[in-house]
Amino acid sequence: MQVRTFDTPQTVAEQFATDLSQWMEDSSGPFNIALSGGSTPKILFQHWAQNFQAAVWEKVHFYWGDERCVPPDNSDSNFGVTNQLFFEPSKIPATNIHRVLGESEPVAEAVRYSQLIANNLVSVNDLPQFDVVLLGMGTDGHTASIFPDQMQLLDDDEICAVATHPDTGQKRVTMTGKPIANAKRIAFLITGQSKKDKFASIQSKADDSKLWPATQFIHQENTIVYVDKSVIE
Ligand code: 6PG
Repeated sequence: MQVRTFDTPQTVAEQFATDLSQWMEDSSGPFNIALSGGSTPKILFQHWAQNFQAAVWEKVHFYWGDERCVPPDNSDSNFGVTNQLFFEPSKIPATNIHRVLGESEPVAEAVRYSQLIANNLVSVNDLPQFDVVLLGMGTDGHTASIFPDQMQLLDDDEICAVATHPDTGQKRVTMTGKPIANAKRIAFLITGQSKKDKFASIQSKADDSKLWPATQFIHQENTIVYVDKSVIE
């Protein structure tokens, strides 16, 4: 893993956007990225909408690493947030957007979304391969919607599965561990002091860090972790 530190969440998002442009430029053919929910991506989406020309996105296909099981116009919808802050202002064509249908029955939707991903992406190591999977980390060490009490999702054989938020009981459709780990690149955007203790334990490979889903992806060789200074100072 590589950890890169920036002054603010804004500069975290801006640097990731710069790196992503380079990776998109270097790649031929369709470029598949799995987006995430959370606070830092909101800054990223606004930055993309304000600073990137529509043409940049022509070959880019957008998926999600996780989605809350709510309709797209619900304020909890990860698609809804991205749509409002980025897709609509940047006029991203609907054919490039592959959302999880949060309004559908979760188990059936996890199956449908798994098939969609398997059909659309190249297969490497017998698993679909995203060019980039964007992730965040919750204060409980969760990532995507793989929570510490559902660690078995890290080894699940399906591409996507249904998860349950441990506090609210909200259903989520999440990508499982293997397809996430199989991405060409994983980018974590982690900001805010509330992540400091967990991140320090993960970095030092403390025993308790094994209990948190984010840990194994953070330690992968092809992972870049973008943090703001409040996470490490
Ligand atoms: C979601 C996520 C989730 C998120 C983390 C970090 O849909 O909630 O994909 O895994 O990335 O909870 O969120 P913050 O960036 O808000 O801390």
